[in-house]
Amino acid sequence: MAKILVIDDDVQIRELLNVNLKEMGHNVLLVDSGRKGIAAVENESPELVICDLILPDINGIKVLEEIKEYNPKIQVILITAYYDISSIIKAMQKGSFDYLQKPLDFDQLRIKISRALEIQSVSEQLESYITEDSEEYQLENSLIGRTPLMQDIAKYIGQLSSNRVSVLLQGESGTGKELIAKIIHFTGISKDKPFIAVNCSALAENLLESELFGHEKGAFTGAIKNKKGKFELAHDGTIFLDEIAELSINLQAKLLRVLQEREFEKVGGEETIPMKARIIAASNKNIEKLVEEGKFREDLYYRLRVFTITMPPLRNRKEDIPLLVVHFLKKINNELHKSVKKIPIKVMDKLQAHSWPGNVRELENTLRQAVVLSNSDVLLSENILVAPTTNANPQDDCYEANLSLAEIEKRHILKVLESVNGDKVKATAILGISKPTLYSKIEKYHLTEIINFR
Ligand SMILES: Nc1ncnc2c1ncn2[C@@H]1O[C@H](COP(=O)(O)OP(=O)(O)OP(=O)(O)O)[C@@H](O)[C@H]1O
Ligand SMILES: [Mg+2]
Repeated sequence: MAKILVIDDDVQIRELLNVNLKEMGHNVLLVDSGRKGIAAVENESPELVICDLILPDINGIKVLEEIKEYNPKIQVILITAYYDISSIIKAMQKGSFDYLQKPLDFDQLRIKISRALEIQSVSEQLESYITEDSEEYQLENSLIGRTPLMQDIAKYIGQLSSNRVSVLLQGESGTGKELIAKIIHFTGISKDKPFIAVNCSALAENLLESELFGHEKGAFTGAIKNKKGKFELAHDGTIFLDEIAELSINLQAKLLRVLQEREFEKVGGEETIPMKARIIAASNKNIEKLVEEGKFREDLYYRLRVFTITMPPLRNRKEDIPLLVVHFLKKINNELHKSVKKIPIKVMDKLQAHSWPGNVRELENTLRQAVVLSNSDVLLSENILVAPTTNANPQDDCYEANLSLAEIEKRHILKVLESVNGDKVKATAILGISKPTLYSKIEKYHLTEIINFR
């Protein structure tokens, strides 16, 4: 039971809400204007406010703003007969819990209210996961992980900092190859020298050639002046050749020469320029396999892989996920001026259970999306939008003989809801039950935490 304040100038709506909210077991306060509503919030401290958008004195968005300023923990649900996009956007920006259209669907309202109150109490029970620290930002601190796999990576970085040998970084997309390349450079002996990155897949062959080696004026149509290449710009710093597997056979030959002779010429140039940069190359393809298939020169591969680091996929170091989550939430809160700091155990479990085919980048993006969607200080499961894990236990699909009827009901409803993408009308048709029955079962089994409803 909660104390709920209703702000609406329409007496019929007030009465309707009064009856329905009392039926749900709540304590109800009714007022008919925005100012009275704000006064009631200050005097009566309701847990939740249901507020009409258009009021005779001040509008609902303004009321929402004042309530949130007074106490951001109070949840506010805005209701309106006019469903216009710009006020929905504004309401959500200002921290409204939800925005519902009149005529009110009381089943829907009941679910929203119980969810809002539930989040409020979860938030009260949880300690903040994230603490503020004023530690100065250092690149090497941005490499997160304590598992033995990551400890090995840290050791390699340490071994590479006192020399300038070539490094080959291998690993799936999003595992942190570029981050490692930067850390190797910026913790190494050449840290004050340039770090120049080139993506070998981003340009057509001839453009890439001039990008890497530079060109003389008039070397080809469009070469209107002399241009320095990345090798020259990197000077005695580091050149990071990303997606090296995409290099054409022709450029592979040219790069091999640069590595062997430690010198090169600009496109259309005569002068020989010394190559002093350290080379760090990266690829998310298995280069050894490409060598076997004849798509990558073996001699170039041997030159590049003097020191090879293979980045582990995130699914092989799941114990690092909580650390990464905390790290990214801090970063994202900062970026987006939000403060999502509490993480229910179930949500952390969900994050750890996912297989993260896009690795750390996918985790970061998923969290960024969840923070954008969030309107409380709790990281909510419903805001973590990940595709179902492909390596799920196939047995999950079978009903085992040791399950209770309720568990089977829960699983079946969940399965149906998933199959119709959360569309409740379709789900009721398949399940052969009424909408209110479905709503009460959704509530009973806490399915709102598991599935995203339409
Ligand atoms: N161990 C880690 N700790 C903290 N952040 C990480 C870690 N690994 C990766 N990241 C972050 O994840 C994102 C993706 O990493 P990065 O761009 O280095 O991946 P990549 O291996 O180069 O991917 P791709 O092959 O797709 O280019 C970056 O924002 C990076 O900072
Ligand atoms: Mg990369």
